[in-house]
Amino acid sequence: ARAAAEEHFEATLAREQRIEPRDWMPDGYRRTLVRQIAQHAHSEIIGMQPEGAWITRAPSLRRKAVLLAKVQDEAGHGLYLYSAAETLGADRQDLTERLVDGRQKYSSIFNYPTLSFADVGVIGWLVDGAAICNQVPLCRSSYGPYARAMVRVCKEESFHQRQGYELLMTMMRGTQAQREMVQDAVDRWWWPSLMMFGPPDADSPNTAQSMAWRIKRHTNDELRQRFVDMTVPQAEKLGVTLPDPELRWNEERGHHDFGTPDWDELKRVISGGGPCNAERVERRRAAHEDGAWVREAAAAHAAKQAERSRR
Ligand code: ACO
Repeated sequence: ARAAAEEHFEATLAREQRIEPRDWMPDGYRRTLVRQIAQHAHSEIIGMQPEGAWITRAPSLRRKAVLLAKVQDEAGHGLYLYSAAETLGADRQDLTERLVDGRQKYSSIFNYPTLSFADVGVIGWLVDGAAICNQVPLCRSSYGPYARAMVRVCKEESFHQRQGYELLMTMMRGTQAQREMVQDAVDRWWWPSLMMFGPPDADSPNTAQSMAWRIKRHTNDELRQRFVDMTVPQAEKLGVTLPDPELRWNEERGHHDFGTPDWDELKRVISGGGPCNAERVERRRAAHEDGAWVREAAAAHAAKQAERSRR
């Protein structure tokens, strides 16, 4: 029976069909998905903080409403993703505990501070732009619930990206001081955005197996290159300089060449040593503890409803 189940799993992958929650799957496939989906969910939830910090300081009511809606979308993405992880048998409470205990990761990018309002625009443009590049192929991921969650997430991310770019365009049409704020934000976020795609392929322990299982559809370096190629013309149009002296078009390759990110910095940030790691996790822990009464009340209400419907 096991051999037949395994054969069915392999054949489903080979036909580019989806694995669904009730299908047999190898333990490693399930573990890898829980790891990646949980990290992804945690990233969405922690990712609310850097921009959330600007909600009370947005320069107009319109900008405040837009930012509020965007940060709410991120919460929604986190919730879809936790639900996708639950279809694999993961427990949401347990995942949250693993996040606040530092046993599970979240994206390195959210451990950098947001120093000016231009950072809100640059996060939309570069960070959400990188997220789209990484996530559009995940709409074809082999695990059904994850792939389907990505469809809606990507639509909303595209909107976020436009939002960021529009904000930056507006600032670039403003004063010299505003243009300098935009350039400063680009200088600070460019390299961390490239690091979002993960370590270089030669140093990525999970890529080969995840590609074989068709969870990932491209390697980290392939997606990083795609992001650079996509972003260079946008930077030109915006009128900012990307802070990489090695960045240039390579006619032969048909791609841009670019410099090497500081991989030691990525390792440091992933392992807890980035500028805001402690603050981000502490804030999440406090929010979780402060919300305990809401969860208790919701559970008590649900129990009462269930009791009533039994009578
Ligand atoms: N930040 C934090 N951790 C990272 C990062 C990063 N930028 N890049 C890689 N890692 C971690 C991996 O999760 C993996 O951790 P683990 O094996 O200890 O659990 C380890 O470093 C080695 O990396 P890889 O072997 O390359 O790992 P993987 O195959 O999982 O690839 C990637 C990493 C590309 C991030 C992949 O997990 C992915 O595509 N995830 C879904 C997208 C996502 O999580 N996006 C979140 C940010 S976007 C947003 O929320 C707006």
